[in-house]
Amino acid sequence: MKIIKRLSSTIDIPKQKTIHLVGYGLLDNLARLDCFRAPDVKNFLLLTDINVYKIYGKRVISSLNKLGKEVIVARVAAGEQSKSFDTAISVCGTFLENRVSRKSVLITLGGGVITDLGGFIGSIILRGIPVIHLPSTLLAQIDAGLGGKNGIDLWVKDKMLKNMVGKIEQAHAVVSDVGLLSSLPKREITNGLGEMVKYWVGWGKPSIGQLLAMKTPKRWRNDSSQVEELAKTIICCQQIKIDIVKQDPFETKGLREKLNLGHTIGHAIEGETFGKLSHGECVALGLIGAVKISTRLKLMKQKTAIQIIETIKNLGLPTFIKGPNIEKVTKLLSYDKKRGTFVLIKEIGDLITGVKVEAKLVKIALLEVIL
Ligand SMILES: NC(=O)c1ccc[n+]([C@@H]2O[C@H](COP(=O)([O-])OP(=O)(O)OC[C@H]3O[C@@H](n4cnc5c(N)ncnc54)[C@H](O)[C@@H]3O)[C@@H](O)[C@H]2O)c1
Repeated sequence: MKIIKRLSSTIDIPKQKTIHLVGYGLLDNLARLDCFRAPDVKNFLLLTDINVYKIYGKRVISSLNKLGKEVIVARVAAGEQSKSFDTAISVCGTFLENRVSRKSVLITLGGGVITDLGGFIGSIILRGIPVIHLPSTLLAQIDAGLGGKNGIDLWVKDKMLKNMVGKIEQAHAVVSDVGLLSSLPKREITNGLGEMVKYWVGWGKPSIGQLLAMKTPKRWRNDSSQVEELAKTIICCQQIKIDIVKQDPFETKGLREKLNLGHTIGHAIEGETFGKLSHGECVALGLIGAVKISTRLKLMKQKTAIQIIETIKNLGLPTFIKGPNIEKVTKLLSYDKKRGTFVLIKEIGDLITGVKVEAKLVKIALLEVIL
């Protein structure tokens, strides 16, 4: 086991301190990590999806069993459809039938769907119990697993509204074992790169070189020095998000909003294309939409716009999509939590938030990414 970095963040909510660990070999050694060793823990509730359970379920259970505590398991279907009230109710039922108490700790093992769903369940079951995330996708290790936004999707008639119900509640710990990423299919690496490229556009890091290195997972599958490089890139992204969440945990100061770069259009496309594109792919399209609006408003130079779009392309992310109905995407945009305001780009590492954009210009941007 090697803990490459131990980051901790205390945010301005009493008693909310989150421990972030990044390393490898952590999964098989959970019993050696302080965050799992609180003496008054009665049992562990493990939430995972069926894919991840098949690969890592037994290892996590036997790792937790070393602490001599019972592990109660709930498995849900893999994919966005599990971020729903129905699934949350069913998982709460499984846990409530099995001796959940205020001294239980909920462990999530999975990608962003599981960390979002598990964070939500942890914040409502028995009015709240501690949650520890074991994020298993690149996207969840660099983004979804941290920051405490625990949302589920809501279907209103035929519309899927992303993350419309939920809570902001920080996890007790986020333990990112980069070894878990070795089993990710290539498409899930690309998915994670969609959020990673957002950090580069918004904060100027990780570097383009670090982003491109992620594209070739074989390099870090068999070589420990490459694994350390991978961990460093993940830590770089985590540090950006942790610093922002610490300063603006409830998104009230205009800082945390920056993390939504690419998400306004991205979420609307994700809602309309449900399941066809990954979250990261939708964020990449949303980023291009933000680039187009930023250049039209003369906030950003054409040269920067070309650099961003070329980088997105080089990472294997989509720059356009065929099929979605523009009117339906526009309708979904009207449900956005920021109600018509956008995070836009002046330069790499320089964002502007809360910009009201005319509907006509939004449509022009949509026509650039939706063919
Ligand atoms: N809360 C936040 O701040 C935040 C931020 C970004 C994204 N999100 C949310 O995250 C979700 C997307 O997360 P995701 O992309 O991780 O999707 P996901 O959880 O659906 O995981 C993607 C796929 O990878 C599989 N998988 C997971 N770990 C694996 C592993 N180690 N090896 C092999 N397969 C594995 C899963 O079974 C699933 O099929 C979206 O719902 C998005 O809204 C939340």
